[in-house]
Amino acid sequence: MKRVSILAVIVGGFASLVSCCERTPNRSSKSLPTPETDPLAQPKSLQQVGLPLELTRATIPADNPQTPEKISLGQKLFFERQLSADGTVSCSTCHDPKLAFTDRKTTSVGIEGRVGQRNAPTVLNATYNKTQFWDGRANTLEEQAEFPIVNPSEMGCASLDAAVAQIARVKGYQEAFQHVFGHPPNASDLLRAIASYERTQILFDSPFDHFVGGDKNAIDASAKRGWELFNTQARCNKCHALTETERDTTLFMDNDFHNIGIGIIRHNVVALAGQAEKLVNSSDKTAIDRLAIQHDMSVLGRFLITKQEKDTASFKTPGLRNVLVTAPYFHDGSQETLWDVMDHYNKGDGVHNPWLDEDIQPLALTENDIDDLVAFLASLTSGPYKQQGVAELARQRAISRTSRPQRDTARAFGPKAQQPEPPK
Ligand code: HEC
Ligand code: HEC
Repeated sequence: MKRVSILAVIVGGFASLVSCCERTPNRSSKSLPTPETDPLAQPKSLQQVGLPLELTRATIPADNPQTPEKISLGQKLFFERQLSADGTVSCSTCHDPKLAFTDRKTTSVGIEGRVGQRNAPTVLNATYNKTQFWDGRANTLEEQAEFPIVNPSEMGCASLDAAVAQIARVKGYQEAFQHVFGHPPNASDLLRAIASYERTQILFDSPFDHFVGGDKNAIDASAKRGWELFNTQARCNKCHALTETERDTTLFMDNDFHNIGIGIIRHNVVALAGQAEKLVNSSDKTAIDRLAIQHDMSVLGRFLITKQEKDTASFKTPGLRNVLVTAPYFHDGSQETLWDVMDHYNKGDGVHNPWLDEDIQPLALTENDIDDLVAFLASLTSGPYKQQGVAELARQRAISRTSRPQRDTARAFGPKAQQPEPPK
């Protein structure tokens, strides 16, 4: 009961914000649900088929325990456009629960229509990531949340304190911060609350989870063949698995970074790496964030953080849950469908890429194999996105019937390409 009354206070206090801001039409209209009341935005249950309970508990840091009030405050903040310089962009602009916490754009668009260099990953299950961002430049969700608020191409605030000042004007936030943290709004508590909300966005309960849980009919024969290929001929498990010794059915990532040949043809990576060597201070994370979002050097990926040649153009292995409903794909959003992704892997890459991971090589997958792998990936769609998944699979399949820009059958069935030496 206590929780309800506090929520009422928080919601009540926000009425002032709703009435004063003409530029947020969704909030001022009573007939539209505010985004944060969308069922897809609500904290998720721990009782889900496939949810790894121990692993989940281990993601909660000792210095930021979960409480219902903090989560509720974080949820408000996640949808709060006043955390951007001109009151137009919130975290949810690019991580929209209705779009599986992505924006479904090639690369994200921030204030004043500023287009960034990278595709927005989902926030779903981000709590399990050992590092955040495609290049892992943030270690925790708390640390991560600061960067978009101050990035000029995203939310564009002059500083985190400036963002705090904007929300501190609102009585509801004053009261909520006081209640949750025992003092008025400040920067670190703002980040804590947002991270707490993000940690509730854990989603499993897919047909694949039901299959693993013992329901042999939860996925069809094609998806079953795809899962087999995933762990064998297609080599996906080399990177999309937490363990190399057994089949991993949890997160489909390895918390590691690899160059798999994305974006490398379009950029002069050697020249950019030379530039980065001279200009980039790898301990200045704000500077790196700007390059990652706003500059061609974005393609250097993990190299910007480590400056190790082996990390050139390498990126974090993303988890594959709900991947069907988070197109387009890869760090630059360069591939439109899962068939395109499969064509990329099938041909191996490597012609102009000395840093290519050794596990990327021609796979000799047939068209049927590719369909099976896509069926398996589609079976990782969680319950709440089931309908969307059906429509999206039909959309992608239709595109794949007429457009397969990455398909290169000769290379897919040919020998592994001779890899060039890294330039001196
Ligand atoms: C303008 C669009 C935009 C806004 C606004 C935005 N993000 Fe993102 N977000 C992105 C993009 C793009 C990336 C990937 C950037 C990169 O890796 O360099 C990202 C990455 C992330 C990640 C890392 C996920 C992973 O798998 O590594 C998290 C978590 C996240 N954002 C949460 C937030 C939060 C919290 C906010 C609000 C404080 C926010 N984002 C605001 C576009 C946005
Ligand atoms: C050598 C490691 C490696 C192997 C092998 C590998 N992946 Fe990946 N995968 C990655 C990395 C790293 C990325 C992100 C690359 C980027 O964006 O530059 C990625 C991205 C993806 C994406 C895009 C996800 C998104 O949210 O944009 C999909 C889908 C995917 N992989 C599926 C597969 C499948 C299916 C296989 C097997 C055919 C496979 N991967 C094999 C490392 C690997």
